[in-house]
Amino acid sequence: MSLAHDLESLAIDIAREAGELARNRREAGVAIAATKSAIADIVTEADREVEATIRARLAAARPDDGFLGEETGAERGTSGITWVVDPIDGTVNYAYGIPTYSVSIAAVRGEPTPGEWEALAAAVFHPAVDEMFHAAAGEGAWLGGQRLAVSAEIGPAGALLATGFGYDPETHAGDLERVGRVMPLARDLRRGGSAALDLSYVAAGRLDGYFERGLQPWDLAAGSLLVSEAGGRFARGADDGSRRSPLVVAAAPGLFDELAAAAGLG
Ligand code: IPD
Ligand code: CA
Repeated sequence: MSLAHDLESLAIDIAREAGELARNRREAGVAIAATKSAIADIVTEADREVEATIRARLAAARPDDGFLGEETGAERGTSGITWVVDPIDGTVNYAYGIPTYSVSIAAVRGEPTPGEWEALAAAVFHPAVDEMFHAAAGEGAWLGGQRLAVSAEIGPAGALLATGFGYDPETHAGDLERVGRVMPLARDLRRGGSAALDLSYVAAGRLDGYFERGLQPWDLAAGSLLVSEAGGRFARGADDGSRRSPLVVAAAPGLFDELAAAAGLG
């Protein structure tokens, strides 16, 4: 068994346990613990508890690895491998009782910075429907035991696309302009509320493409490996407005160039 495969198995086990904890806590009722970068950017007590559980499980299984999590920050390891974790991706959905949220866990080698790391393993678990998306570098992307592939072709009605909007209201006008430029390619546009699931759905061919500005490393670490292992293309670059909040584009190869150009990927 390869290292990537071992890391994938661990990510799957922990993502399932974490997702079940999140679902149980949701059933018991959600408490908002704090707001973060903007008033719309919230963290629930469950986000913190789920991340602590993931972090403790990883520390016990692989004590030499580093950690980068949305809620508890970064810690360098000595093995060269870092776990990049979003305990609940789709926190606003979670808080409102919408079941579109996921646990996202990735293992990366090298600097824990998108574009600099080499993603080795990924698990994205959607507890509400019991779907486990997973991938290991060079070994494909999977939904449970079914191998995934991105859309083979885009139909004459256009591409089914998804996007998202950051929490900072000042960025919304630019995001909406981008939507306007992309819509001629689209048969329709989804805004699911969990970037990790959006990327998993591109990998599964449930979406033809996805674009969003301002994602954090934990939003995209697992999903980007899923897309590339499913034969899709993923890129993260400066958008035409700001170098501070890069734009992500993921799509089937037949759509990628057109989508990236319309979205303004620099
Ligand atoms: C958010 C979700 C959302 C995306 C936001 C992310 P969070 O993550 O992935 O779909 O549009 O940009 O911040 O805050 O729910 O972990
Ligand atoms: Ca997230």
